Amino acid sequence: MKAEQAPLPRILVLVSGSGTNLQALIDASRERDFPGQITAVGSNRPGVFALERAAQANIETFVIDHKRFESREEFDAALMAEIRRHNPDLIVLAGFMRILTTDFVRAFRGKMLNIHPSLLPKYTGLNTHQRAIEAGDTLHGVSIHFVTEELDGGPVIAQAEVQVAPDDAPKSLAEKVQEKEHILYPIVVRWFCEGRIQLGSDYILFDGEILKAPMRLPDN
Ligand code: GRF
Repeated sequence: MKAEQAPLPRILVLVSGSGTNLQALIDASRERDFPGQITAVGSNRPGVFALERAAQANIETFVIDHKRFESREEFDAALMAEIRRHNPDLIVLAGFMRILTTDFVRAFRGKMLNIHPSLLPKYTGLNTHQRAIEAGDTLHGVSIHFVTEELDGGPVIAQAEVQVAPDDAPKSLAEKVQEKEHILYPIVVRWFCEGRIQLGSDYILFDGEILKAPMRLPDN
């Protein structure tokens, strides 16, 4: 008799926009040995292209439109209820442009990842590419971190760097960073689904050892 296979970890992706990172995850999840399954995609904005990408891939979608709620708390409560319905093992924020309440973040502690387009702790918040250029940085990049109460401040799992060229504008720099995002996010999601990364009190365990510095994707 064949041994029963354990079900793959369930991944729920939250989006607000075009969903190029979602697409990278969908593509990766189609690989035969991918250790997780994307079971739902949720958006706070109706009509965004990311939802179409999910539908094309036959993934269940939902929209909780933040404009329909009076307060952040009410929106988060509705989002939380919907997420619980899908019973995910991992929540992946992929261009999800809402600040989440403390209650929400605590409810999914250690199970929620975010991608941020800078080399954290540099440039939390918005307009990261422009700020890197204005600061004269020669190195910029992307970080993937566990979501904690602090905005863009949770422990960083992995980073990928890009060189800032003298003639880079925010748009060209964003494109370079996005290329790295699409490589790095599937790798980190894979690690999570394989049970290789865990969030401790204020540290990350990678293969059971405390991670002293973020994992790096070689810059090539
Ligand atoms: C990415 O650049 C990500 O770093 C940021 O939002 C953008 C989302 O892009 N958090 P997309 O929707 O995945 O194309």
